[in-house]
Amino acid sequence: MISAERVEARVRELAARMNEELRNKRPLFLAILNGSFFFAADLLRHLDFLCEISFVKLASYQGTHSAGKIRELIGLNESLRGRSIVILEDIVDSGLTITYLQDKLMEYSPQEIRVAALLLKREALQRPVHVDYVGFEVPNIFLLGYGLDYDQLGRNLPGIYALKLESKTKLA
Ligand code: IMP
Ligand code: MG
Repeated sequence: MISAERVEARVRELAARMNEELRNKRPLFLAILNGSFFFAADLLRHLDFLCEISFVKLASYQGTHSAGKIRELIGLNESLRGRSIVILEDIVDSGLTITYLQDKLMEYSPQEIRVAALLLKREALQRPVHVDYVGFEVPNIFLLGYGLDYDQLGRNLPGIYALKLESKTKLA
């Protein structure tokens, strides 16, 4: 669906914007595990200003349908008070995860919370979500690769692929 080269080029563009917009904020990037590990690593190596990164976990997804249930946020050890936070997500689908996370993080009194998502399924949004940095808008179909998984498989693919259901047995 999106080649590794296109992903790389787009991530560089997002980094270039951040280099202008976030330079003097000393932001704390919060990468949401597991899906955002490629995005976070590739993005950050193109940032040329002082910034920090931490990894948190918040899974809400099983199989190919958004489960709708949200689990706890784990791994947050930094003080967020007065800080500029940039959430790094692989994909925003229903928007439930990101909404939950923003609400949760607001309890720690940050100065601002921005959202960067490599992929956005705008048609699937069930909440009005503002994503400050969008890599690609994608159709409402199941995707994998570049960190995104299908039942934990496919994260290692360097590009983004659409899942074909008849290939399910091959994956298994
Ligand atoms: P949301 O809460 O529905 O927005 O879902 C967000 C999370 O679901 C993402 O962080 C992904 O981990 C996962 N997810 C959503 N869509 C896909 C997909 O097409 N492929 C793989 N994971 C997905
Ligand atoms: Mg995720």
